[in-house]
Amino acid sequence: MYTANREYIKRFGPGRIIEHWLNAGVFVLLVITGLAQKFHGYDISQWIILLFGGIDTTRVVHRYSGIALGILTFQHILVASFGILFSRWQPSMIIHLKDFRDAVDNIRYYLGLSEHPARCDRYDYKQKFEYWGVVIGGMLMVATGLALWFPTVVTRLLPGQLIPVAKALHTNEALLAFLVIVTWHIYNAIFSPEVLPLDTVIFTGKISRERMVHEHPLEYERITGIKLPPHHEGHAAAEEAGTPSS
Ligand code: HEM
Repeated sequence: MYTANREYIKRFGPGRIIEHWLNAGVFVLLVITGLAQKFHGYDISQWIILLFGGIDTTRVVHRYSGIALGILTFQHILVASFGILFSRWQPSMIIHLKDFRDAVDNIRYYLGLSEHPARCDRYDYKQKFEYWGVVIGGMLMVATGLALWFPTVVTRLLPGQLIPVAKALHTNEALLAFLVIVTWHIYNAIFSPEVLPLDTVIFTGKISRERMVHEHPLEYERITGIKLPPHHEGHAAAEEAGTPSS
């Protein structure tokens, strides 16, 4: 697929793009309605609670958004498991020893101790870390959220001490998830020098050949059948590999 002077490669289909934005929307609702309850003494929290029509409706919105997060997480695990089982998806999010080596290689590269960055596949170690944070964190939030919602049902089967534990986990993981998304995810999607002013891949589903060569050289080689020169660097390597990148 070509634009004026740059070539793009398909990275995500509509299913993954819609899933991302549904998750993002539900997450924002949960963070706003959850943190307004946690920090209820602040003016901004009072303003948010009034915006949602009072504390009762804020809590209802939070709980039903929680159900939506549960459905999204469950369907993702189901679709991914079946996709991998029936060989329609590659298990590209599995963490390997190579990811740890890649992290060390990139740290060395950023410190100027090595001349070349790590050669990553479809997802690099940072993306895998974030992905598993969302999946495992999502399951934890759903489990602890349900325990806070239905404490009498839970304590019929399990010890009562679990409820304050669930509360501590839920409220602290909420703050952690919010801070990780604001600092790590938003930085990587908007402010990182590689994508500034905005990483558009999750809007269009397309990534430039130049970025593929630079950030996902192993996947690039696999899907194109083009062998990159040993120490490729984005733009130049794409040209060297036979296809102009601009
Ligand atoms: C990323 C997702 C979520 C975030 C960021 C989040 C955040 C929060 C926060 C900050 C609180 C306030 C805790 C406190 O007062 O210290 C809270 C309470 C609560 N959350 Fe969540 N939450 C999430 C997901 C869920 C889910 C999935 C459910 C249910 C299925 C849920 C159900 C509840 C319930 C029942 C409460 C107690 C307040 C109430 O009675 O409404 N939450 N949440």
